[in-house]
Amino acid sequence: MNREILFPTPVYFKMVKDPTKLNKYLYPLIKAWSKKDKTEKKTNAGGGWHSPTNMNFKKEYQPLVDELFAMQEEIYKDYGMQPKPGLGNMWANINYPGSYNKQHMHPNSQWAGVYYVKLPENSGRLFLEDPRPGPNIILPRRLKGIPKQLWRVVAYAATEGQMIMFPAWLTHGVEMNASKEKGEKGWRVSVSFNFIQVDKDGKIV
Ligand SMILES: [Fe+2]
Repeated sequence: MNREILFPTPVYFKMVKDPTKLNKYLYPLIKAWSKKDKTEKKTNAGGGWHSPTNMNFKKEYQPLVDELFAMQEEIYKDYGMQPKPGLGNMWANINYPGSYNKQHMHPNSQWAGVYYVKLPENSGRLFLEDPRPGPNIILPRRLKGIPKQLWRVVAYAATEGQMIMFPAWLTHGVEMNASKEKGEKGWRVSVSFNFIQVDKDGKIV
């Protein structure tokens, strides 16, 4: 018997070069920003704080932007895309204990993703859902322990310093932050972003 796997859904993971150093640098900046600007309503806030979406235009976040672009370049090679990626927008998230992000997608982008600045224990996993309608209608009874590729929902307990990128049409969300830590120790801090595709001159293609 032969088998082909068609219509796969790629999810990419990569650590930044120096996670401790980068997060030590980013955390105070994001914290100060959250005290200054009110949360955005248009992004998907389930009780947390969402920064304005112009984070990619703020010079101080360039070290993270560089890491994100390096990963996108690798994805372009692996996924056979060209000519190059452009960063559409980017924003910081603070999920205070009790907050979450309900299921959503990122319209008008190629790749969506997240970078983790601070993840207290039990602060909520990122979950990705099977995007195909068929498997969500027909639910066969199956053996336990089937491989992850056959699950309908996959959740990741991510790592500080990790970048995760996936197709922007892939439905995803973040579980409730159930950290028992007091004050800012319980904050789950991440950065979200959307990559688009641009031509050599940076124009959207
Ligand atoms: Fe998202």
